[in-house]
Parts: sequence; C-alpha cells; structure tokens
Amino acid sequence: MRTFCILMIAAMCVAAAAETAVTPRPVAVTSRQGVFQMDSSTVLAADPRAPQASRLLSHQLALKSADSIKACGNCVHITVVPGLAVPSDEGYILEVTPNSVEIRGKGPAGAYYGAQSLLQLLNSAKQVPCVRIEDYPRFQWRGMLLDPARHFIPKQAVLKLIDEFAAQKMNVLHLHLTDDQGWRVEIRKYPRLTEVGSMRKETRAGHEREAKGFDGKPHGGFYSQADIREIVAYAADRFVSILPEIEMPGHAQAALAEYPELGNTGEKLEVFTRWGVNKNVFNVNESTILFLQNVLDEVLMLSPNKFIHVGGDEVPFDQWKASPAAQARMKELGLKSEAELHGYFIRRMDQFLTKRGRRLVGWDEILEGGVDRSATVMSWRGNKGGIAAARLGHDVVMAPNSHTYFDYYQAKSPSEPLAIGGFVPLEKVYEFDPVPPELTAEEGRRILGTQGQLWSEYMPTPERVEYMAFPRSTALAEVAWTPKARADYADFLRRLRGFEQRWKSRGVNFRPTPAQ
Ligand code: ACM
Repeated sequence: MRTFCILMIAAMCVAAAAETAVTPRPVAVTSRQGVFQMDSSTVLAADPRAPQASRLLSHQLALKSADSIKACGNCVHITVVPGLAVPSDEGYILEVTPNSVEIRGKGPAGAYYGAQSLLQLLNSAKQVPCVRIEDYPRFQWRGMLLDPARHFIPKQAVLKLIDEFAAQKMNVLHLHLTDDQGWRVEIRKYPRLTEVGSMRKETRAGHEREAKGFDGKPHGGFYSQADIREIVAYAADRFVSILPEIEMPGHAQAALAEYPELGNTGEKLEVFTRWGVNKNVFNVNESTILFLQNVLDEVLMLSPNKFIHVGGDEVPFDQWKASPAAQARMKELGLKSEAELHGYFIRRMDQFLTKRGRRLVGWDEILEGGVDRSATVMSWRGNKGGIAAARLGHDVVMAPNSHTYFDYYQAKSPSEPLAIGGFVPLEKVYEFDPVPPELTAEEGRRILGTQGQLWSEYMPTPERVEYMAFPRSTALAEVAWTPKARADYADFLRRLRGFEQRWKSRGVNFRPTPAQ
C-alpha cells in the first residue's frame, strides 16, 4: 500500500510536470506514468523532411544521429506525417514513453514545434515525463515588431531575440526598418539612404513634452543586404518570417535628409533627433512613387515573405495642403481630399506589390483613404480599425495599443525604466482576445492573428528591448497559440518559471514576475 501511494504521488508529480511545463499551453495533454531518461546513448532519428527540428535538438541536446531514420529504442524520433489529424502544418503530436520520444509533425513546422515542446519538458536530470501532447496554433500570425529605426538593434541581438520568439512558437518578426530617426537597410540603388540616413547627430533626452534637451551623442547603424539575408535565413530555420516595413508616405525624414526632392518643401532637413509625429512626409509625384517602388524591389529580393509592410500611419496632411504640386496632383487624379491622395498612394503600392505576387500590409490609417481588399490591415489604434477592416473583407492582424504595445509601462513602480507612457501589464496582455466580440463568426475568420510592438524610442539598448519583451511576449504567444477555452492565467504564471530559468541561462534580460 505504501509503495502504491508513493507511486501514485510520483505519477501525479510527473503528470503535473508535464501539464505545467509547456508554454504556450498545448491544446491537449494526457499525462502518463514514468519518465524517459535521456543519456549518452540516446540517439536522434530524424526524417530528412524535418531538418529544422533535427538541428534544434542535436544542437541543444548534443544527441548523436541514429544510423537509420526509423524509430528505435532509447531514441528521439522525428517524422513528418502529412496526414496527421491536426488542423495545420504547424501542428504536432508528441508522445513520450519510457523507451522513446516520438515527435510527429503534420509539416516541418509542426515537427519543429514538437521539438520545442520537448525541450521545455526536459528537466535538469535529463528526464522527460511520459505524456501525449496534441497541439496546433489558434492563429497563423503570431508576431513581434522590433524597431531598429529609433534605436538601432545590432544583428546579433536580433538573432538572439529570434531564438526567444521561436521558443515561444511565434512565427513573424516585423522589422520596422525606416523612420524619421534613421534608415536602417542598405538600398544599392540609393546608397545615400544609409550613408547619410542611418546616422543622427543626437537624440532627444527624456520625453518630447518635457523638452529636456538632447544627449549630444551621435546614434546610428544599419543592416547591409547581407545582414538582412542572414537574418531572414536564421529566422526561416526557426519558422519565423521576417516582415520588412518601409514606412511611407509619413515617417520619412531620414530619407528626406538626403533626397529632399522626395519631400514637399525643398527644405534641407537632417535626420530627425526628436520623437513624435512629424510633418515632413513624402510627396506624391510620380518620380517619388517610382523611387519608393525601386526601394521595395530591393526589399522583395531580400525577403521571400509574401507580406510586405508599407506603414501608412500618422501622416499629417499639412504639407500636402500647402503644396501647389500636391494640390495639382489631386486635381489631375480627380481626388477630393488629402485623405484620398493618401489612399491613392497606398493603392499604387498595393498594385505594385500584388503584381509581384506579394501582399501589402499597412497600419489601420490605410482604410481612411480607401484601399483594395487585397491589403492586410494592422489594427493599432485599439480594435476599431480591425473591426472595420474585417467587415470590409480585409485580412487583419490585431496589434492594438491597449494590449500589445510593449513600449508601454508594464508596472507602476517608480523603479521601472522610462517608457513612452501607457500601462500594459502582463495580465492585460494575457486577457487579450484577438477576435473582437463585435465580429460575426465569418468576419472573425479575417483575423490572421496578433502581434506585440516594441517601439524603441525609450529602448536605447538590446537589453532594454528584452526587458520590455519578456515576459509580455510570452503571454501574447499563448494568446496567439492556445485555444481560448484553455487560457488560465494562474497556470501561465506557474509555467512562466520555466521560461525564467531559460532566460537566466541564456542571459536574457527579462522582467521577473513577482509571486502572486
Ligand atoms: C503606430 O504606432 N504609429 C503604428
């Protein structure tokens, strides 16, 4: 009886370990008795169709490859099973018995996510609790935005972040590559974009509204085309797509600093040293549209992602109102307002990208000037842009500042580092539902997923970016992956301890979550 009780307790502990270890929380977990003990004779037998999962495990666990790709004793076996009964290629079934670990992915991505779950189940004694996990994502778009434009993020720091986001089963990394304060991607046809536009002479100290002066230190950096290719390949090996963003027609000052003919006033500008919405925007001359399409053509060569982001947000119309050329252009095109001119500009980019087999993504302002249904809308000013877009038949990514702006404060403590403002604590992120209740089931299917934003005005270093990202991105990853009915914040907090261990061992500067 005593032995039985001990066995029962051990089984319950192992069951609890399996249930609580994997984040995002899987769709279904069946815990079983016993453990798989990994040791120096454990081998990896991997389907050649799953090289990413195989590389992840052989790299993390230093497993030897088996002579055959068939399952064997004391082995971690990875296969791709296209007929697997899960709804997406990102789905997998992970079965752990005392003799072996079996990872079956519906596609290579599923195998990779099964391997990520296995790594989370493994304890420090190299034991994996026996379990069957059936898992697949709720949404196809599980993204994070990095903003190397405001403060440059060196390539190595981007690669480190990709590893962390991939471990959370996120699959889109949106790179905001251009803005008023810096142009961060090499464009061969227009080398001055980075020769001049990647460097600002100094940076506003503190908040714009406080007018505390400037730090007096030059700030710069950019990614060469080889760097972008390396980032794209590194991310692809982890099933993360890079979404490049070239901002237009606003947030343009870094480009206008060396190409004033793209602007409206002819004024000699410098790369912007302050924060906030800026009146210096691109003009809508044919030559400017061509210039920006040439830029996009080079970006398309670097990124195989079918989605390309063109910004479209925060465009003050002051300069277009005052510009005889812009007014003449509106007249020539039969447009009644500057908002319609904005719509015309975005439609031209949409047609350009569509012709090349790509799809335009823009912030929710693109709805205001009228845009074709081919455009995907990123809803950032709350949910309302996303609701309107879904009703109009656009695909939508929900990125509302209310829940997904990780440049906002995560705690009210005075010891928090300076942030842009707002308040988006961990629990608020966790409570977010990317499908607004206002939508019908049919409209709700337009929601591709969700994305967290790390705008970097107040993130001068990669360490600060990490602090703002973790653990909030982990909560968003669970929102994006786990079925709504399986959401459980208390359980998430327990599982978060596993990620905290991971971040400690990898030198990730996360914000510790206090015990509840
Ligand atoms: C944005 O935050 N301006 C998209």
